[in-house]
Amino acid sequence: MAEQLGNLTRTHSCGALRPSDVGANVVLLGWVHRVRDLGGLLFVDVRDREGVAQIVFDDDNAPQMEKAKRLRSEYVIGVEGTVRRRSADTVNPKLGTGEVEVFVKRLTILNEAKTPPFPIADETPVSEDVRLKYRYLDLRRPRLAGNMILRHRIAAATRRYFDAHGFLEVETPILTKSTPEGARDYLVPSRVHPGEFFALPQSPQLFKQILMIAGIDRYVQICKCFRDEDLRADRQPEFTQVDVEMSFARPETVFGIIEPLMRDIFKVIGKDVTIPFQRMSYADAMAKYGSDKPDLRPGLEIQDLRAHFRESKFRVFKEIVAKGGTVRGFVIPKASHYSRSEVDGIVDMAKQQLGATGLVWARRMDDGAITSSVMKAMGEDEVSTLLDATSTGTGSLMFIAAGDADPTSKLLGQLRLILAKKDGLLKPDEFRFTWVVDFPLLEWDPQEKRWNSMHHPFTSPLDEDMEKLVTDPGTARAKAYDLVLNGSEIGGGSIRIHDSAMQSRIFSLLNISEEEAKLRFGFFLEALEYGTPPHGGIALGLDRITAILASESSIREVIAFPKTAAAVDLMSTAPSPVDPKQLRELHIQIK
Ligand code: AMO
Repeated sequence: MAEQLGNLTRTHSCGALRPSDVGANVVLLGWVHRVRDLGGLLFVDVRDREGVAQIVFDDDNAPQMEKAKRLRSEYVIGVEGTVRRRSADTVNPKLGTGEVEVFVKRLTILNEAKTPPFPIADETPVSEDVRLKYRYLDLRRPRLAGNMILRHRIAAATRRYFDAHGFLEVETPILTKSTPEGARDYLVPSRVHPGEFFALPQSPQLFKQILMIAGIDRYVQICKCFRDEDLRADRQPEFTQVDVEMSFARPETVFGIIEPLMRDIFKVIGKDVTIPFQRMSYADAMAKYGSDKPDLRPGLEIQDLRAHFRESKFRVFKEIVAKGGTVRGFVIPKASHYSRSEVDGIVDMAKQQLGATGLVWARRMDDGAITSSVMKAMGEDEVSTLLDATSTGTGSLMFIAAGDADPTSKLLGQLRLILAKKDGLLKPDEFRFTWVVDFPLLEWDPQEKRWNSMHHPFTSPLDEDMEKLVTDPGTARAKAYDLVLNGSEIGGGSIRIHDSAMQSRIFSLLNISEEEAKLRFGFFLEALEYGTPPHGGIALGLDRITAILASESSIREVIAFPKTAAAVDLMSTAPSPVDPKQLRELHIQIK
């Protein structure tokens, strides 16, 4: 039988007790973490959110000792007792509370607990499905509890920062009209308007722009966004953005606000971040790292080798260059540990898994000898010249790929990351930020045979590329930018179109008819005509930022109640069928 709380009032959290508390009478409230019964002595670790404290019962206090013998893992208890020093042999230097213990005068058993499906007290690996089903138990474990605390601190630092910089947090609707981020919408049927639907926001994009028209000037919101898209480790169907919009902003205005914010956020884990961050054009990111979210930690920059192969004896590559293709490669400076068979194995892996066709290698061994997978075709002199030209010194290895520019860069981009990971060059405690700027405005959809917006259709072209909208739309760049940290896109935004005429031009480029535009965004287009200030903004992925700070490889570990990769909530078992009556009220029939 559970006892009542009565007037038991916590004096200390379990993690707070220190030698300075010796002699104090304290009340702890928490869960039984571990029990050790040594006969005449019984030790119990009590845990709450902040940590663990050791409490002691002995035979001198027989009634309490008797009661304590009933304790099992995860029972909820209250203890009143006196703090004392632990005997030298029981001091635990790994615990903040490890020099003290509480000698219990009164134990209250507030609740019993079934034996949990996995131990809470140690970090034994448990399948993720079980952890998700019993999320409340997983959240009791130090790893997730710590992640929740960290997430709170990041959000709190973010709110403090924006408040100090004159931003207003404004809530935008969850039941709304479809927004333009390009994923599938989650729809909510209207009971009152048969056959009509709300959409859950993929982002508050249009509302935050309308807030600029409304004169709010600086807006921020920590908000949930909903996207029905294929899930990955860094994607959830509902996730949290730090959503920002500013009137009278240039890209640099936005960067100038976000960089010190990131510095404040990293202070939460005691890391100094140097600002300003590097800026890199999209074109450079693709050419040098084969990705629009380059991980800068390992170096291994991709080099353009066309000049070398234009006159090469290696006919295959020479012809690719002559036909307008590319040859690129990257150098691993410290590669002595790669055996010949390992290098050949990497090429095979790249062929099978990454679709590499023309991938070769060349290297300078520790004794200065030169080898290459195309030694015969190129000849030693030419390989040597290539290695010299690319600073491939003693003990270094170079991978070289040829083909069309984009796929070749992407292939090398993937390969550099695989090898960097293998060689331990992606250090979790190193943080390399970059802005990627000047994204293309449009991307061609070969299936639909039409242009799509790369960011969204409200993104402004670069001033100097306006002409290209007419002459060569595919090369027009946008005032769009991403914030990238260690190869992860942690934010994205743009300067918006604030002029109706330009907005209409972009819609017609995107083959969105006036009627369709009116149907989808009419309310916004109308608002645009009532004195819209120039404006722009960004949204940061709070889950991704928190995961990086927590050194977690999946955002599920920093979300209290995440969905699985199959987009279900294993704890509440959502989604689930509903009562036929509910469906009738919503005018919905299941086919
Ligand atoms: P974007 O679509 O780039 O921009 O989203 C901004 C940031 O949100 C994070 N993010 C996600 N995180 C977890 N799960 C997801 N499914 C997911 N999708 C996106 C990423 C991303 O960089 N309205 C624009 C912003 C703007 O233009 O101001 C927008 O939503 O970290």
